[in-house]
Amino acid sequence: LRSLLRNSSDASRVTRRGFASGSAPERKVAILGAAGGIGQPLSLLMKLNPLVSHLSLFDIAGTPGVAADVSHINTRSEVVGFMGDENLGKALEGADVVIIPAGVPRKPGMTRDDLFNINAGIVKSLCAGIAKYCPNALVNMISNPVNSTVPIAAEVFKKAGTYDEKRLFGVTTLDVVRAKTFYAGKANVNVAEVNVPVIGGHAGVTILPLFSQATPQANLPHDVIVALTKRTQDGGTEVVEAKAGKGSATLSMAYAGAIFADACLKGLNGVPDVVECSFVQSTVTELPFFASKVRLGKNGVEEVLGLGSLSDFEKEGLEKLKPELKSSIEKGIQFANQN
Ligand code: NAI
Repeated sequence: LRSLLRNSSDASRVTRRGFASGSAPERKVAILGAAGGIGQPLSLLMKLNPLVSHLSLFDIAGTPGVAADVSHINTRSEVVGFMGDENLGKALEGADVVIIPAGVPRKPGMTRDDLFNINAGIVKSLCAGIAKYCPNALVNMISNPVNSTVPIAAEVFKKAGTYDEKRLFGVTTLDVVRAKTFYAGKANVNVAEVNVPVIGGHAGVTILPLFSQATPQANLPHDVIVALTKRTQDGGTEVVEAKAGKGSATLSMAYAGAIFADACLKGLNGVPDVVECSFVQSTVTELPFFASKVRLGKNGVEEVLGLGSLSDFEKEGLEKLKPELKSSIEKGIQFANQN
């Protein structure tokens, strides 16, 4: 966030010098579900991002207020709010990046899969809109269960003839954000310098942080690694329980979503070596979708990076997560093709 804020003050300086003719190209970002718990702080953070020239906020309710509020912030982008399905086209037209946090969040005792019935339908209809109005946009899927909503999106795009696997991303950045924070706390290192890849998927045991590859290295004892892994996997549930019925992670998710969208924009703009973990179409394992490090570029995914070397504990975790991830992927594909 500090760097986003710093960038935003750089941006207003640049704007005064005439950004339109400067080096940062025009980029439209659309947020679908912009009036929600994630949508609102995410709209704020994207308004602070100097790489955005047009910010389009869409929801079925509440967007005029959010858009009016955010639009008063004196940063580069022009903000427009759109409400109701009949305005989805206008919200999406010309979008370079579409971020989707639309849908219901978990309540205590629910798994992400319990959200499937409602969110699958929402994602399906929003993706049909994307195929129609901005088929070349990079799609950042936040709506849960990500392990199923990303395959649903792929099927919708395939049916519309617009699918490009390089442009579809499940946002797993919050798992990385959590792994970094929890690791820094135990390893006693500067959190700002920490890197931890997180692979697999985005639900329970399918979230597999690779602490053996964490930097700076700390040689933590095995029992600490086991506890850190479990805390990262249960990070979402920790927040759901603390919010006691009032939803799931929204603020940390908005931060994570803003980091990932910023990486997509940097990639589109030709910044070299932009690498983030994401749940994408993949041949890294036998599963058709898998989260791993991905290099982002002008076309979206430039390269899906391999897993690197895993500890025995991580190898075991990888084998354990495959059946659950496989069935969540298949559930999404089946839904998209049956309904
Ligand atoms: P929320 O209920 O506060 O907000 C959801 C928003 O989506 C509401 O404003 C609602 O009006 C809107 N919406 C519903 N149907 C829509 C449609 N057809 N078109 C446009 N907007 C629509 O929920 P919250 O807390 O913002 O969570 C949103 C989603 O993000 C949930 O599915 C949640 O599970 C997921 N999530 C994902 C995370 C991740 O790491 N990928 C982390 C945390 C939450």
